[in-house]
Amino acid sequence: MTPEQADNLICPLCQMPLNLAQRQLTCNNRHSFDIARQGYVNLLPVQHKKSRSPGDSKLMVQARKSFLQAGFYQPIAKALSESVIELAKASPVHTILDAGSGEGYYLDNLLLSLAEFMPDNSATRVSYGVDISKDAVLEAAKRNKQVSWIVGSNARLPVKDHSLDLIICLFGFPCYEEFTRKLRTGGHILIVDSGADHLIELREVIYPEVKKSPPPQHTELLALGCKEVSQRSVRFTISLDTAETIHNLLVMTPHMYKASQAGRDAAESLESIELTVDVVLRVFACID
Ligand SMILES: C[S@@+](CC[C@H](N)C(=O)[O-])C[C@H]1O[C@@H](n2cnc3c(N)ncnc32)[C@H](O)[C@@H]1O
Repeated sequence: MTPEQADNLICPLCQMPLNLAQRQLTCNNRHSFDIARQGYVNLLPVQHKKSRSPGDSKLMVQARKSFLQAGFYQPIAKALSESVIELAKASPVHTILDAGSGEGYYLDNLLLSLAEFMPDNSATRVSYGVDISKDAVLEAAKRNKQVSWIVGSNARLPVKDHSLDLIICLFGFPCYEEFTRKLRTGGHILIVDSGADHLIELREVIYPEVKKSPPPQHTELLALGCKEVSQRSVRFTISLDTAETIHNLLVMTPHMYKASQAGRDAAESLESIELTVDVVLRVFACID
């Protein structure tokens, strides 16, 4: 963790600024948080947890890591980077937070693209990846040492109010009020959700009847002084040709828990499948 990254952080217990000394973050009320040997910091106090190990399990994290590393969702990472580069041409994108960053695939890719296409600002860029799952953050910390990886909650982001230029939230759990509180005026929120046809072929195997729900509109943000500035649909097909890859996809999605045993068994018995990937990127500017 660099002093610049630490400078924006607040104590999750009393919201006082945190100061970095040695390998510890400490506030003036003497609450202290160790920076783990792997480089991340846990800013999720036990009283803010609803279970012993909240968020994605180690099994889910490993499945997502293998699936994403194989490049199946690379077009989503590319679309994310293109959208952020567009934003960065018009207004500063210096301080970025990935809310629900998982094992860090998208934030890592985004930072690599920004470094490649906008190298001038890269050295001073400050980035945070926040996830409620310690297992996810542990993996993320191995991936990119430039990011400040934090075990924390989207509901109480441990950064100063109005300190961020951009919050990204992919397939996650946006907390609208908290996000707008942490953004500077003119900052942006970029949200990625599944579209109605996302993985439709797999859902048809798993469920007797498939509901095609449209992606959320996030209209709550409009009431909080944001406006939607762009929307982009990303659609492509992928071919999964091993049972292991299909298993990994199943484990990293909510279908693993929503589906009946029969539905899961049907998916697990597949040796190959061609799938539609359908996602929507929405960008909101916070103008108030
Ligand atoms: C579907 S995964 C998406 C991960 C990553 N954004 C990606 O697309 O690869 C959702 C992530 O949100 C995390 N999560 C769930 N509730 C959260 C919360 N309240 N605050 C922060 N992260 C949360 C989970 O641990 C999990 O890593």
